[in-house]
Amino acid sequence: MRRKIIAGNWKMNNNLKSTVELISEIINKMDNHLENTDVVVCPPFTSLETAVELTKNSKVRVGAQNMFYEKNGAFTGEVSAEMIKNIGCEYVIIGHSERRTIFGESNEWINKKIKKALEEGLKPIFCIGETLEERQNGTMEQVLKTQVFEGLSGVTESQMANIIIAYEPVWAIGTGVTASPEQADEAHKYVRNLVENLYNSSVAQELIIQYGGSMKPENAKELLSKPNIDGGLIGGASLKADSFLSIINASN
Ligand code: PGA
Repeated sequence: MRRKIIAGNWKMNNNLKSTVELISEIINKMDNHLENTDVVVCPPFTSLETAVELTKNSKVRVGAQNMFYEKNGAFTGEVSAEMIKNIGCEYVIIGHSERRTIFGESNEWINKKIKKALEEGLKPIFCIGETLEERQNGTMEQVLKTQVFEGLSGVTESQMANIIIAYEPVWAIGTGVTASPEQADEAHKYVRNLVENLYNSSVAQELIIQYGGSMKPENAKELLSKPNIDGGLIGGASLKADSFLSIINASN
């Protein structure tokens, strides 16, 4: 049985003080008997080291929200995979739709980032998803296929054990509109098939595919009970301990 991963993508929210408050509240209230769920928080870069320190003796793991694919050098404003790994992070979100649309990240860049993250021992949370227009004009499957094939180009079968895919339909992110459990499960199944075509069925069966896009306490249980949905990447609802915890509890 695949484990579930519930990850909070804080985006550009929380300073150091509110990071300490939110993480402390999550740790204090979290059920420590979660057998099949891993919990991850992804604060902004400025809070990562503090988050790692705070979560040391807990079940909460820490991830970054982005990285650059070069090792070091003249890349003003960027942070490398090695730097993220060095302070104790385990995960890194790569290719989030906000990175793709606002910051112009291409599948090629995302692929380079994924390979670099893996090389440094980080677990990429690789985000994919179609826009509303792509869903409506019937190109959704082609879009997902291109994102998956180009994003995973050159990633080996054994490296696949360290990758998580987050299916996040762009029209559901931050909008309050959630994909129905059936729509999400169908897309996850399609993505799993793509991965089976690229690798084999055991890689596809072991792959964790999270859903992201307005997941909240009210819809988490139904989404997470679907056979192909292995967790969530949660934005808005991860910014309050109680709603994040209730999603975590819904995963068990
Ligand atoms: P949301 O964001 O839960 O606020 O829709 C999800 C995400 O962008 O990862």
